[in-house]
Amino acid sequence: MTKLTTVLDDRIWTLDRPVWFGGVRLRARTTVLRLDDGSLLLHSPAPPSDALAEQLRALGPVRILIVPNCFHHLGTPASAALFPDARVVGPASARARNKALKLDLDIGDARLNEVLPELETLPLAGVPFLDETVLYHRPTRTLLGADVVISACSQDHWTWRAAARITGCYERVRVPPDVRKTIADRSVVARSVRAMLERPAERLIVGHADVIETGWRERLAEAWRVEGVEL
Ligand SMILES: [Fe+2]
Repeated sequence: MTKLTTVLDDRIWTLDRPVWFGGVRLRARTTVLRLDDGSLLLHSPAPPSDALAEQLRALGPVRILIVPNCFHHLGTPASAALFPDARVVGPASARARNKALKLDLDIGDARLNEVLPELETLPLAGVPFLDETVLYHRPTRTLLGADVVISACSQDHWTWRAAARITGCYERVRVPPDVRKTIADRSVVARSVRAMLERPAERLIVGHADVIETGWRERLAEAWRVEGVEL
């Protein structure tokens, strides 16, 4: 689990690492995106091993570190120390949970559009528990999220496969079980998810599932419909 996997030639790579969470072993993903200027954006940065740092240096300069919600911040302080020229973008709620995290720009700040004109930010409003913002990368037609949906498959550790069967996430794209109970406003969520569904994306990449390509739109919508969100 130290080698980057190519999702889209010379543009998108992923790295999955095992993470224990709530008694199950999930795969937690870092996505590497090559921006139009050739530099790299790291989404949900993993604690950078020597092997990962070497692969990233071979690809190009790391310019942006994205903390997509208030949970996916653990590897960012170490990544920021390793790549001091990178700007850290994330929500204030992550900063509140991790005092070592320093944000250069809030993910909701309109100035992000000047820094990253090729990206659109799509906040998942109505779920303050996550405080997640999904990114849409226009050049690669890719939606990048963290916990907006989750799924388990045969590649996963038995602990998560077993829990996923019970919670309906096995080989199905679903809202994460711990998020279901925390949906604050379903009509607000509906507007947010609709904005994602309207993007002409070819894939949805999230933190704990295989890359979702075929039928991503129907699968994302179904996951939220099951939770009573009208789409
Ligand atoms: Fe997560």
